[in-house]
Amino acid sequence: MDQPLEADIIRTGLRTRFIGEPILILHSVDSTNSYAARDVALHGAVVLAEHQTAGKGRMGRDWSSPAGKSILMSVVFLPEQEIGSMLLMTIACGVAVAEGLEQVCGVKPGLKWPNDVLLKGRKVSGVLVESQLAGSTVAKMTAGIGVNVHQRREEFPENLRHPATSLAMEGLTTERNRIIAGILNALEVRYNQLTAGSTQAITESWKRYSLQLGSVVVCRQNGEEFRGVFTDLARDGAAVVHTPDGAEILVNSGEIRAPE
Ligand code: BTN
Repeated sequence: MDQPLEADIIRTGLRTRFIGEPILILHSVDSTNSYAARDVALHGAVVLAEHQTAGKGRMGRDWSSPAGKSILMSVVFLPEQEIGSMLLMTIACGVAVAEGLEQVCGVKPGLKWPNDVLLKGRKVSGVLVESQLAGSTVAKMTAGIGVNVHQRREEFPENLRHPATSLAMEGLTTERNRIIAGILNALEVRYNQLTAGSTQAITESWKRYSLQLGSVVVCRQNGEEFRGVFTDLARDGAAVVHTPDGAEILVNSGEIRAPE
C-alpha cells in the first residue's frame, strides 16, 4: 500500500462543486456500491473502502481485490431525471475514468464498450452504475469505480475472463488519493454535461478512447450472439453494429468483444 486513503489529501486535488461532499472512507465493507445505495443519500457523496468482502462487477460477476491495493469507490447522484436522459451515465463514467487516468498518470487508456478501461490490452478499471427508480424517474444513481493500482501479476485470479493489469504493473503512479481526485474532477464535468443534455460531448469523447469502433466485434445480447462491425455510438450509449446481412443492431446490454 502507498499512502492510505485520506479525505484531506483527496480534497486538495478536487476542483468540483458538489462531488466530494462528504468523502467517506471505510476500512472494510461488503461493497461500496451496496453501502452507498443503502446508507448514503447525499448528492455528490463519495464512498471509498480499502477492502470489499462482496465487491460487484457487471453482469452479476464478482469484483475482488486484496486490501489496500486498489481504488474501490462509489459516487452517489440524486438526479431526479427521467430514466431516458440518464442512460448515457455508464458511458460518461468510463470517459471520466479514462480522463482521470490520462491526466494524473500521463497515459492514454482505451475503452471497451460500455466502460472497461484498458492499458495495453489489459483491463485496469471497471465501472458499475446502479440505479434506484421512482416510476420513470431516476431517484438515485450509484456510480461504482474499481481501479487496479498496486496489484502484482500473481495477485490476480488465474481464471479472469479478461487479462488484467494494474497501474504499478504498467510503471505508472500509484498515488491513489491523486488519482481519485482526477477521476472525480472529470466525473463532475461529464455528469453536468449529461444532465444539461450535452450528450454529444460525451459520446464524441468516448469514441476517441474506443478500442472497438470501426472493428469487427462479437456481441452477446439477450442470450444471442452475433458478429458485425461496430460503426457508431448512439446518443443513449448503445453500440451501433452492422451485421454482414445488412442489419443495423443497437446493442444496449450484454457484452462486445473481439472475435477469437
Ligand atoms: C466491472 O468491470 O465488471 C465493474 C466493476 C466495478 C467494481 C467497483 S469497485 C467499487 C464499486 N463497488 C462494487 O461492488 N463494485 C464497484
